[in-house]
Amino acid sequence: MGRGDDRVIELLNDILTFELTLINQYWLNYRMLDNWGLPGLAARFKAIALEEMADADAYVDRILYLEGHPNLQRLGTVQTGEDPLEQIRLAMEREAEAVERLNAGIALCQEGGDNGTRELLAEAVREEEEHLDYFETQLDAAERVGTQNWLAQFTEGNTDG
Ligand SMILES: [Fe+2]
Ligand SMILES: [Fe+2]
Repeated sequence: MGRGDDRVIELLNDILTFELTLINQYWLNYRMLDNWGLPGLAARFKAIALEEMADADAYVDRILYLEGHPNLQRLGTVQTGEDPLEQIRLAMEREAEAVERLNAGIALCQEGGDNGTRELLAEAVREEEEHLDYFETQLDAAERVGTQNWLAQFTEGNTDG
């Protein structure tokens, strides 16, 4: 019998799979966008991919603390997206899903009295809300000024930072 509630460990592994999938998706998007001559947008996807990596790291650490087995074998479907706008739309959908998933997880932790995990998830949900907000703002802007004008701002910049 481990230290953590099995349902919480399962939940953390589900979230971990989600994060690992998004790292791959955003990383591929970053390289594609850079290749399309949009380093400004590519840099944002790279930065967000690295934030998801830090999230994955925190979930692995928490699962080990709870004496569970972090599952790094499993990956969900990477939704590549065929153009920048579709990539943004897909990312927005995934971030909305992340927020929903984390809020459900927070409720489960509250029920089980696992305040440490609850706090970790509560911190994470704020970050995913910021990601969601970023992608929503981009979609709004593209709609407002037109896709070509919106894309023009991303031809400058670099992906090293
Ligand atoms: Fe994340
Ligand atoms: Fe995210």
